[in-house]
Amino acid sequence: MSPVGETTGGERELPSAEAARRRTFAIISHPDAGKTTLTEKFLLYAGAVAEAGAVKARGNRRRATSDWMAMEQERGISVTSTVLQFSYRDHVVNLLDTPGHRDFSEDTYRVLAAADAAIMVLDVAKGVEAQTLKLFEVCRARSMPVLTFLNKCDRPGKDPLALLDEIEDQIGLRPTPVTWPVGVLGDFRGVVDRRSGEMVRFSRTAHGARVAVEERLDAAQAAREEGDAWAQAVEEVGLLDAVGADFEEKSFLAGETSPVFVGSALTNFGVRHLLDAVVDHAPAPGPRPDAEGRERGLDAAFSGFVFKIQSNMDPAHRDHLAFVRVCSGRFERGMTVSHEPSGRPFTTKYATSVFGAERDTIDVAYPGDVVGLVNASDLRIGDTLYAEGPVRFPPIPSFAPELFAQARPSDTGRHKQFRRGLEQLEQEGVVQVLYDPDGDRSPVLAAVGRMQFEVFSYRLAHEFGASVELSPTPHTLARRTDEATAAELRRTGSRVRILVRRDGALLALFESPYWLARLQSDHPDWCLEPVLEEMAGSSS
Ligand code: G4P
Repeated sequence: MSPVGETTGGERELPSAEAARRRTFAIISHPDAGKTTLTEKFLLYAGAVAEAGAVKARGNRRRATSDWMAMEQERGISVTSTVLQFSYRDHVVNLLDTPGHRDFSEDTYRVLAAADAAIMVLDVAKGVEAQTLKLFEVCRARSMPVLTFLNKCDRPGKDPLALLDEIEDQIGLRPTPVTWPVGVLGDFRGVVDRRSGEMVRFSRTAHGARVAVEERLDAAQAAREEGDAWAQAVEEVGLLDAVGADFEEKSFLAGETSPVFVGSALTNFGVRHLLDAVVDHAPAPGPRPDAEGRERGLDAAFSGFVFKIQSNMDPAHRDHLAFVRVCSGRFERGMTVSHEPSGRPFTTKYATSVFGAERDTIDVAYPGDVVGLVNASDLRIGDTLYAEGPVRFPPIPSFAPELFAQARPSDTGRHKQFRRGLEQLEQEGVVQVLYDPDGDRSPVLAAVGRMQFEVFSYRLAHEFGASVELSPTPHTLARRTDEATAAELRRTGSRVRILVRRDGALLALFESPYWLARLQSDHPDWCLEPVLEEMAGSSS
């Protein structure tokens, strides 16, 4: 995907003017709800691909060039994430991909830290699924505006009104439908656009490879031509009107209500309405608060933060790629910026777009854009880069780990490789690494999902030539603690383990929530803070 340049005419716009025409968002969904299909259809509607099918083709090529991604192929999962940039209606759209599997929700959290809005895709036959909920929690923690797409309306599914209740009850987000289906699911004819009262009737194209043909029908014509299907849609829309489920910009931007669009990514029905809504309603990048809560204006000198690190994507070039979200100013390739926290200068000669292993040079970027910096081995997740006046953006906090395993090299002769891999994979956030300050010197890996351990072992073996023996520990939850409480906890016996994170934080690991609850009720003065609170508290 070649990067989209500046406004036409070659004139240099103010960064705030460039930011105003940008939309940076992510799609969240349970696996199989249709995220990949929808992404591809966005590209089709934006004219970035002539025919749907290109993303899959790229996907295959991408996999073929990376041994790491061979694991994705073997397991049929998406571990990596990428960024697509395309232009649509004189806007620049940045679509940040998130890994679908729940075990990588920590990675998703980091990607969402770089997005300004999200689209939640639900399969109408399945409704709200486990992963949708988990990912939505991340959006809620950031008060992020969320648009909802009810996908697969071409197939039989749940009653759409019941789905709205499900969204409200399970997610706690008030749905406000903008479009509504005409025709029962399975015989999906088109949508009512509640803004105009018109029906938009769609016709399929072969394999959904090209945009769907759209006809606009006024109410009288729709009643004549669509009969019962139209009558039912009108009745349902009447119910929505009666409860006042109308789109409202302010509560949408506050993350309290969600505009709902219906359609089918497979047949392209309703895709245009959704993409238009991203441009019309999703927020443009705004000034971001720094770690002290001061806003860095969009027209201030360049600044951005690292939200993701990926290494060794291309085995031929053992490289290290940092994904940087631009927050202010104009980024120009080759400029020298400062690195926070080290304060050292950092040159940006090798700046690229970040669509999987495919790289195109990026020359300029503006707030909302994502720049990939190659061979950025000194950069860590959460670091800031800036030009001129110094700034530090808030850290991207870690998820509370729920799984723990003691890690030892299987071959002690390869200890050096083991150390190097451990350090690298921790830096990328593949797993968290904890150490016992007093006892066993071998590290304890901490993760949110089991598959993170698998990725760790696989990459350690394939990229660093060191195999690892992982012994799960019986712990299931962690709390932040301090020295005084840690000393008390050590006295309580072996059911609690005290470990140290690289940033010096002390974590107490517990085997069961009951034991923790008992200690908390017996010793209310002890410091045992949920790690998740930290996540919500420091979101920007
Ligand atoms: P994901 O990225 O969220 O995991 O989902 P993906 O787009 O890969 O879609 C999962 C499956 O659902 C795919 O079928 C896809 O074709 C199908 N799908 C997506 N959107 C729609 C829709 O609007 N209607 C219908 N009927 N199906 C849809 P598959 O059989 O697993 O893959 P494929 O062989 O079609 O590629």
